[in-house]
Amino acid sequence: MPRQPLWLRCEKKEFERRAALTPTTAKKLIDAGFDIYVERDPQRIFDDEEYEKVGCTLVEHNSWPSAPVTTPIIGLKELPASSDPLPHTHIQFAHCYKNQAGWASVLGRFARGGGTLYDLEFLTDESGRRVAAFGYHAGFAGAAAGALALAAQKGGKKLGRLEPYENEAAMVADVKEKLGGSGKGVKALVIGALGRCGRGAVDLLRKVGLDEDDILKWDMAETAKGGPFQEILDVDIFVNCIYLSSPIPPFLTEEFIQAAGPSRRVACVVDVSCDTTNPHNPIPIYSINTTFSEPTVDVLVGGTPANPPLTVVSIDHLPTLLPREASEQFSSDLLPSLLQLPQRDTARVWTDAKKLFQEKLALAVEAESTAQ
Ligand SMILES: NC(=O)c1ccc[n+]([C@@H]2O[C@H](COP(=O)([O-])OP(=O)(O)OC[C@H]3O[C@@H](n4cnc5c(N)ncnc54)[C@H](O)[C@@H]3O)[C@@H](O)[C@H]2O)c1
Repeated sequence: MPRQPLWLRCEKKEFERRAALTPTTAKKLIDAGFDIYVERDPQRIFDDEEYEKVGCTLVEHNSWPSAPVTTPIIGLKELPASSDPLPHTHIQFAHCYKNQAGWASVLGRFARGGGTLYDLEFLTDESGRRVAAFGYHAGFAGAAAGALALAAQKGGKKLGRLEPYENEAAMVADVKEKLGGSGKGVKALVIGALGRCGRGAVDLLRKVGLDEDDILKWDMAETAKGGPFQEILDVDIFVNCIYLSSPIPPFLTEEFIQAAGPSRRVACVVDVSCDTTNPHNPIPIYSINTTFSEPTVDVLVGGTPANPPLTVVSIDHLPTLLPREASEQFSSDLLPSLLQLPQRDTARVWTDAKKLFQEKLALAVEAESTAQ
């Protein structure tokens, strides 16, 4: 059997330190008959040498356009905007299948170049569940941001800029320190606790020292009675991790917060789900996505900041705060599918993704020709 080439490209998105392929998974692929090419990338959390050590071939930064067209290119985030045709096979998140801004021009590049897109968001198992997702570390990092916001607010401050942590242990240590040595005494509620993000949030809260009884874990059964929920007002941190698939009564509203007055305990809401602009957002108490440089937004009640303060963390790329572990988990979940890459013309996970690509491509070609 000829060896299967695979090319890990650099990431061009600012602050993105994660990688779709880690040295650990690269080694497993090499052992299984792959030749792995890795673009040098100072931005990546893994050093170039870590890849070289396991047998990858290092290549120039951003040199994938000159790779042989038969070599699939793997990356994480979208490519910088351009109109250049794409002749290669790309495995990445492209964010162009749900009518996102510019979707047709992204796909148009594949139409003109004859390349194929396998979108990582749409690689699914037999039951339709994604084979690899970043949820766990989104929840983990989100809960950490919530705890940090709480600690800052207790000291009369606003949470300042967040920076990616070298690893999970460093994040846990920092949160514990800011909470005064331990999270003991802090109370939290996680909704969507049985999902990927929810499990990560619960784990962070445990690791920073909250008592098990002080971590309320809700999922479908507990919210079935319909919100808004008094229980959210009675904790320090509320972490929302649900997967919103249909309209539901809101979990929290401005009126509900106002009616509670100063007896309210909740000080920080972390909306990991980030359905910020969704008309059915179950937490309609804020309207923007927050950022690493300004991680919280004040909740306003009657046009003025709520008293006592209540903030929302609504960062939509939380796993970036834990680039190493988030990459390791994602990449190892992706590995079984990558091992089937040489059989991508027959292996279901790849043929399904290609079929979806072809459907979206046809729509994009139609949209572009109508626009002309
Ligand atoms: N902010 C970020 O950086 C980030 C990163 C990754 C994922 N996400 C988002 O987080 C959300 C959750 O992702 P996931 O991978 O954990 O999904 P998941 O499907 O693994 O888990 C969702 C959980 O929510 C529960 N749920 C759904 N509706 C509910 C309701 N009405 N009441 C209570 N529980 C309910 C489900 O039963 C499930 O346990 C998604 O919207 C995803 O896009 C955000």
